[in-house]
Amino acid sequence: MSRTATRKQTKEQARPIGAAGKRDLRLCAVGVGNWGRHVLSAFARTPNCQVAYVCDADATALTREAGRFPGARQTARIDDALNDPEVDAVSIATDAMTHARLAIAALRAGKHVFVEKPLAMSAADARAVLETARSVGRKLMVGHLLEYHPAVAAVERLLRHGDAGELYYAYTQRINLGVVRKDENAWWSLASHDVAVICRLFGAEPESVSAAGQSFLQAGIEDVVFATLKFGDGRMAHVHVSWLDPHKVRKVTLVGARKMITFDDMSANEKVRVYDKGADRGEHVTEFPDVITLRTGDIVIPKIAGDEPLLVECRHFVESVLAETPVLTDGENGLRVVRVLEAGQRSLRGGGGLVKLREIE
Ligand SMILES: NC(=O)c1ccc[n+]([C@@H]2O[C@H](COP(=O)([O-])OP(=O)(O)OC[C@H]3O[C@@H](n4cnc5c(N)ncnc54)[C@H](O)[C@@H]3O)[C@@H](O)[C@H]2O)c1
Repeated sequence: MSRTATRKQTKEQARPIGAAGKRDLRLCAVGVGNWGRHVLSAFARTPNCQVAYVCDADATALTREAGRFPGARQTARIDDALNDPEVDAVSIATDAMTHARLAIAALRAGKHVFVEKPLAMSAADARAVLETARSVGRKLMVGHLLEYHPAVAAVERLLRHGDAGELYYAYTQRINLGVVRKDENAWWSLASHDVAVICRLFGAEPESVSAAGQSFLQAGIEDVVFATLKFGDGRMAHVHVSWLDPHKVRKVTLVGARKMITFDDMSANEKVRVYDKGADRGEHVTEFPDVITLRTGDIVIPKIAGDEPLLVECRHFVESVLAETPVLTDGENGLRVVRVLEAGQRSLRGGGGLVKLREIE
């Protein structure tokens, strides 16, 4: 055996062998439409991952996308991949209403599952997927992309270990003249990301949600939604989503007791800004205890790693399956976001009243 071959073999042996009992994860990418094709490309670029199947019910999308990966088999039926024992995992980037059904079918076939957000269109369905994953002992990961964004990780570090102080409140905007969905409203289509980020940065789930929105383009499908999330300890967050807006904004603003932080995903080089701004109560100045002094200091722009969030996300899924380690955005996390979305949906239907999360199963 040549020295190169020996070196290669040693490297192969050093790589983890996962639950699948293979060195490379064999994956079927289901749904290769507008977003799914990016998911497919990202998995194809992920180390230790082999795209074995490309699946889409639409022949045009299937031929176009699968043609880029001649080594992968093409199919319009997910069952072909589910019945193939060589397939270890399935990524699902189909229409949101199909997520729960396809994820449960894949899990029951013994596959690990990566499913796009939202995990399901109801908390009951999300719980069913989560329980199926538990009962079959397979990984379930939800594509809450922003939780893999280096900027969100940086903001979380600043809040946990920095000197921003206690987080008071936050507001998010995800607005654009963008893809108008026919089956789901802007709340279900866009707010998963914001809700996932808010729950992560607040380190909690809200106690209640109230939401107001309006349908202008299609009856019963809200194009714009304004929602308020209230937490048990008095903190709050506001979410504004719309696909009918002149501005393209993807921004999170966080107001802490000592500092304020923004995450602007549309900015190329200044995604995170930390404002040394705040209002201090004069309790320490005994003669003026009621005075509130405003403070305006430096603005710091921390350097954020340029890693592509989708690649980080796909790598995390593959590594977690192979190394048998927990995933960050697991079924519990997916269910939590869906419960908030369902509470918001009930509020929308009920005219904007407050819906408690404990009312959602
Ligand atoms: N993480 C993100 O940032 C992000 C961004 C956009 C969309 N998404 C999510 O990705 C999913 C797909 O969105 P999209 O914009 O690509 O939608 P899309 O309509 O462009 O594509 C969906 C594709 O799924 C296929 N499909 C549907 N049911 C199928 C089935 N049973 N078997 C095989 N193929 C099936 C359709 O033929 C279509 O090609 C949605 O759930 C959406 O919420 C996530």
